[in-house]
Amino acid sequence: MTNEDLIAAAREAARHSWSPYSDYAVGAALLFDDGAVVTGTNIENASYGLALCAETVAVAKAMAEGRRGGLVSVAVVGPEDKGDGAPITPCGRCRQVLNEIAQLGATDPEILCVGGDEVRTVQLSALLPHAFGPAHLD
Ligand code: THU
Repeated sequence: MTNEDLIAAAREAARHSWSPYSDYAVGAALLFDDGAVVTGTNIENASYGLALCAETVAVAKAMAEGRRGGLVSVAVVGPEDKGDGAPITPCGRCRQVLNEIAQLGATDPEILCVGGDEVRTVQLSALLPHAFGPAHLD
C-alpha cells in the first residue's frame, strides 16, 4: 500500500460524504500495521453542530471493529476546488481522536494532508504536541 493508494482510498471514501450544508466533502483513510485500510467520510446533520468529521468516522469504525493501535498512517483529502488547493489538515477534535488510537498502540502516525497539487506529510505528534491521552488516566 503506497501513499498514493492510501490517498486514493480517502478520495474514494469522500464520494459517500453527506455534506449538503457545507458542500465540503472530506475523505479519510487509516492504514494499519497489518495492511488493513479503514476509511471514513464526513457526515453532517440538519442540526449543523452535530457534524462528524471524516477522520473521526474512520477511527470510530476501526475501533468498533476492535482495533486498538497499529495505526501507521492516515490520508485526509478535501475538495480540490476550495481553499486555494492548500492541503487540508485534521481539525483539533480529530487530532485528539486520532491520538487515542495512536497512543493505544504507541505509534506516531504520518498524516498525509492532501491539497490540490501538494501533499503535506506531518507526524501526528507535530499536529498535537504534548497530547493528553489514555496513559494520563492510568
Ligand atoms: N471536516 C472533516 O471531515 N475533517 C476535518 O478535519 C475538517 C473538517 C468536515 C466537517 C464538516 O462536515 C466539513 O468538513 C466542513 O467543516
